[in-house]
Amino acid sequence: MATFFPGVSHTFSEYLLVPGYSSSECIPANVDLKAPLVKFRRGEEPAITLNTPMVSAIMQAVSGPRLAIALAQEGGMSFIYGSQTAEDEARMIREVKSYKAGVVVSDSNLTPDMTLAEVMRLKEQTHHSAMPVTENGAPHGKLLGIVTSRDYRPSRDPQDKLVREFMTPVEKVIVAPATVNLSEANDIIWENKLNQLPIVEEDGSLVGLVFRKDYDSHKSNPNELLDASKRYVVGAGINTRDYAERVPLLVEAGADALCIDSSEGYSEWQARTLAWIRENYGDSVKVGAGNVVDAEGFRFLADAGADFVKVGIGGGSICITREQKGIGRGQASALIDVCEARDQYFEETGVYVPVCSDGGIVYDYHMTLALAMGADFLMLGRYFARFDESPSERVTVNGSYMKEYWGEGSARARNWARYDLGGDKKLSFVEGVDSYVPYAGPLRDGVQSSLLKIRSTMCNCGALTLDELKEKARLTLVSATSLVEGGAHDVVLKETNQQVLFNN
Ligand code: IMP
Repeated sequence: MATFFPGVSHTFSEYLLVPGYSSSECIPANVDLKAPLVKFRRGEEPAITLNTPMVSAIMQAVSGPRLAIALAQEGGMSFIYGSQTAEDEARMIREVKSYKAGVVVSDSNLTPDMTLAEVMRLKEQTHHSAMPVTENGAPHGKLLGIVTSRDYRPSRDPQDKLVREFMTPVEKVIVAPATVNLSEANDIIWENKLNQLPIVEEDGSLVGLVFRKDYDSHKSNPNELLDASKRYVVGAGINTRDYAERVPLLVEAGADALCIDSSEGYSEWQARTLAWIRENYGDSVKVGAGNVVDAEGFRFLADAGADFVKVGIGGGSICITREQKGIGRGQASALIDVCEARDQYFEETGVYVPVCSDGGIVYDYHMTLALAMGADFLMLGRYFARFDESPSERVTVNGSYMKEYWGEGSARARNWARYDLGGDKKLSFVEGVDSYVPYAGPLRDGVQSSLLKIRSTMCNCGALTLDELKEKARLTLVSATSLVEGGAHDVVLKETNQQVLFNN
């Protein structure tokens, strides 16, 4: 006879937090949101700790290098999408790892043969007064000199005067080697009273410029997530099919952690993938697995060697898995079950395997609920797709700014490897849709506003850390009518365009 799970499957919207006692120390500024990303033994520290418990979904519409950098600056981490060639994915990882905070890759580069008139036109377009001169005018070409507004007199010099005649040649420019860190670069700027400092490779090619005004990146990103070499931390998605070719390229490119991207993780395919990674890399390569929705699935992946386990089937905003296949489970119920299994596993084995709640977060308060229910960190797709830094273009739909957002199982992404059932060919049905999400500006503003809400709610629960939240949170199920009571009701809203559905 089939197994019936007791009770019903609940979603985040069916729960609320009941406030607990908060002392005067419980203020948002005192809240610490650090969270373990990968497994660790009792009494030890995890190899990677997030400063913000958010990771971005392994999706074409979400996790490219630009978003990865912006999220790492806010203390979270991206998993670059795997539905592209291994070489392209590795290139994106390299782009994040080689990004130097505070080093600006110039978009107004000159060649020695350009005229003053052309320089003036470029300056008008970009508003940059310092322009590097490179051999071929390319951003990373061999540096030949620099032109600043001190090098010419626009009204007196002839318009056809060549850059080579008035630039400050590289021999007279103070430059720093590519090995310099930002704090050393800033010291050079201050000691030499410079406005900008070109950073160059050993062969003389230009890396970028550090500007005086960008003086302390760490001061403006106090939460940033860096590796031991002060590079941004970034992860990469893999599948259960081409791991033997893909993983070595990603590891070599510097990926800090991998994650098997699959709609269903309780499978021999995942165990084989994890075994291959352990055989070839031991514990040095960190890899998460999933997705599962119950204790049995968690234990299977934990025993198979996963560094973290992802929870969630069918709850993603673009997901139609439940409609297509009738599999899945309410995200809240799944999460509560799996987190209990994680704690039991920790008690039995002394190994803590972090749990990631993946998909289905609509409101900011859902994030706090998921963390209160036991999630160590959250994976979000729709949420990040809305920001400037996500890979898709901003478009105007019916007079409103939107960003495109499509599922990995949609016909657009064609990521059939995440639905691996051992066949050679793609499945003949889709499990995701192609859609728009309301544009939400820069990631930094959005994340900081969400984090403030999480911190404030944690204070209402008397919790200053995520562990305390898990311990102290008091949750209650709500009835259908109390959902109505919880929104604005029985009033006539003054602004008809007030966002109700997408308020985060
Ligand atoms: P969201 O944050 O609710 O938008 O959910 C994002 C999550 O949905 C991802 O992290 C994946 O686990 C899942 N997902 C991505 N693409 C698809 C799809 O095409 N079908 C079903 N689930 C998907």
